[in-house]
Amino acid sequence: MIFWRIKPLDQILATAEKKSLKRQLGPVQLTLLGIGAVIGTGIFVLTAEAAQKAGPAMMLSFVIAAVVCGLAALAYAELAAMIPVSGSAYTYTYGVMGELIAWIVGWALVLEYAIGATAVTVGWSKYMNGLLNNDLFGLVKPGSLALPAWLQTGYFSGGGFNLLAFLIGIAVTWLLVIGTSKSARVNAVLVAIKIIALTVFIVIAIPAVKNANLHPFMPGGWGNPIGSNGVGVLGAAASIFFAYVGFDAVSTAAEETKNPNRNIPIGLIGALLICTAFYLLVGYGAAGSLGAQPILGANGMPLDPGTPAMTQACIGSNALVCSGEPLAHVMRMLDHPVIGNLIGLAAVVALPSVILMMMFGQTRIFFTMSRDGLLPDVLSSVHPRFFTPHVITYLTGFVVSFCGAMFPVGKLADTSNAGTLLAFAMVAIGVMVLRKRQPDRARPFRTPLVWIVCPLAVIGCALLFVNLSVVAKEVFVGWAVIGLIVYRLYGYRRSQLANGNAG
Ligand code: ALA
Repeated sequence: MIFWRIKPLDQILATAEKKSLKRQLGPVQLTLLGIGAVIGTGIFVLTAEAAQKAGPAMMLSFVIAAVVCGLAALAYAELAAMIPVSGSAYTYTYGVMGELIAWIVGWALVLEYAIGATAVTVGWSKYMNGLLNNDLFGLVKPGSLALPAWLQTGYFSGGGFNLLAFLIGIAVTWLLVIGTSKSARVNAVLVAIKIIALTVFIVIAIPAVKNANLHPFMPGGWGNPIGSNGVGVLGAAASIFFAYVGFDAVSTAAEETKNPNRNIPIGLIGALLICTAFYLLVGYGAAGSLGAQPILGANGMPLDPGTPAMTQACIGSNALVCSGEPLAHVMRMLDHPVIGNLIGLAAVVALPSVILMMMFGQTRIFFTMSRDGLLPDVLSSVHPRFFTPHVITYLTGFVVSFCGAMFPVGKLADTSNAGTLLAFAMVAIGVMVLRKRQPDRARPFRTPLVWIVCPLAVIGCALLFVNLSVVAKEVFVGWAVIGLIVYRLYGYRRSQLANGNAG
């Protein structure tokens, strides 16, 4: 049946050769690209939301999310090394499970990357507004540079237009259009800044940990997956999963990587391990030093973060769960206001690298889908001077910037997670299918214990998915329906495969 047409793997590799991007990234650049894409709003901002959902037990949430990501990374690495072309989960699925499923995955990846980038623009704006609301290290009168309140938060978070989220989206778009290699170099510096900021946080917060702050440890319980609004340890894990999202951006750069068979697995797994270590230490430091107790509603359960009830309950509160810039806040509360501001500054300087990597991933996926004929050809046109896919970059940049100006960070992150979890599950399934169908194909990297790792990855993704907030699941379903309509009306007929082309 035509819906199930599969693009042979050899053909995928040949297509990439025909219309290709320049191979210029090495293993260190790639690991940095991974860390650059991973450390961001998740740890810098969503730590507060995770604490609100799970209390100090958010540390368990970090571990659960890391395990799911680790399992998925092992699967990703096998396919990324076998099929070292742009497009990641989308391309792999095309080669293994056929066009329709590939389309669904590619469409879901738009949520992962574009909405993920959007969430980070909002996270960035929180830290930037935090600095402007402050005294800029004593240089100005406190608050004299602050934007009017309606320009500090988006319409759907109870404000008007989040101006700074919008502006940072536009700035990053410009960086991407002028070229990968310049962007990657900038990225390396920003990664260093993030690592230093988190290290300073850990060094100050951990000695201040008091046992009493960690009790009660699990005030939100484990969470009730089906029908809940994503509270408890599992709800927090589903949200904080966002903190790990992005390492797969490494695989989307496969086509621009030197010796991808060796370097892609190094980049993927290296980035994930380094980030996990940092998150656990930061989570422990934040919860143990300041406390991480959620604000409870009348029913004795944690209030849903981002809701008007929560905003109301947070007025005048110094609790971790109420802060939009929790890491800077912890430092200020521990009597280190200058360090707090410096950490805020580090976030402001470094988070754009995350936006950059996520938008990079998004543009490369659309680039590949368009090259396959599933989206209009104009999207894969390459800039004559910068050699970047500029049309799709402008389009993505505008959507990201505008949505950043409107929506709340937590719900954006959850929505991004929904797309990511689907893609991860599909990759794990793809690995198993391909092991059966093409057992003899060369595999430069083999997923260890594949028949345990891949099924567990799928189960883990499903577990986190059901624990996402209800609105994220609804948006996901709506987006999938729109995607199927677009596919039926356009890609189904225009696909290179439908027209008998090798691409
Ligand atoms: N993992 C990235 C972040 O936390 C998306 O911002």
